[in-house]
Amino acid sequence: MDDELVERLERLCERQRRTIVGIAGCPGAGKSTLAESLVDRIDPDRVRATCVPLDGFHLADAELDRLGIKARKGAIETFDAHGYLALLTRIRHDTRNTVYAPNFDRDIEQPVAGHIPVFPGTRLVLTEGNYLLDSAQPWPEIRAQLDEVWFCDIDDETRQARLVARHVRFGKTPAQAQEWVARVDERNAERIKRTGHQADLVLPAVPRAPSPASLRNLS
Ligand SMILES: Nc1ncnc2c1ncn2[C@@H]1O[C@H](COP(=O)(O)OP(=O)(O)O)[C@@H](O)[C@H]1O
Ligand SMILES: [Mg+2]
Repeated sequence: MDDELVERLERLCERQRRTIVGIAGCPGAGKSTLAESLVDRIDPDRVRATCVPLDGFHLADAELDRLGIKARKGAIETFDAHGYLALLTRIRHDTRNTVYAPNFDRDIEQPVAGHIPVFPGTRLVLTEGNYLLDSAQPWPEIRAQLDEVWFCDIDDETRQARLVARHVRFGKTPAQAQEWVARVDERNAERIKRTGHQADLVLPAVPRAPSPASLRNLS
């Protein structure tokens, strides 16, 4: 499966300009793990690739407090969507300078600016996140910056179990993790699921080792 995806990415990169491919899916569907695994598998002598997660555009807690929406962190309105659009547009057009993207640190649950360099020679950017196929503004404009968008399809039971385990790994008690998944993540998942049919490719879940990045705490 992953070999076919790597080949598809390498074919997409045969064009002149930089390629940007999105990976969408519900919380815990395995987007970050898949994206990191694909970047690791692509032959760097053929295509230099990197991953830019939407999670880097989580608003900071201080701003979520000001807006009164911290209790639903992860919902679509808790991301800086226009900032993400601006960065993708820059990634698309600026191949003269290193473009720095933010990452998300799961230990402190905050975005960290300037963490991911997209070098002038980077030919492929994989970007992954919950809402890449959403129809609310400005998400269609974000979709327009992406050459393809793939959707991670996975049964709810496996996904929720992985999500609870991930929350626990990063400091929540099992009860807190289950409450957060039921109250916040699953509400978002319902919205995201409805967008999956618009993907260029729907990916079934396959067993895959956790990405080193997810073990290092960065999404
Ligand atoms: N294919 C897989 N097989 C087994 N475990 C996985 C797989 N994909 C992801 N996981 C685990 O499930 C959890 C959620 O995956 P993650 O990639 O963080 O999802 P997302 O980025 O979509 O929220 C992580 O803890 C990860 O290690
Ligand atoms: Mg992720």
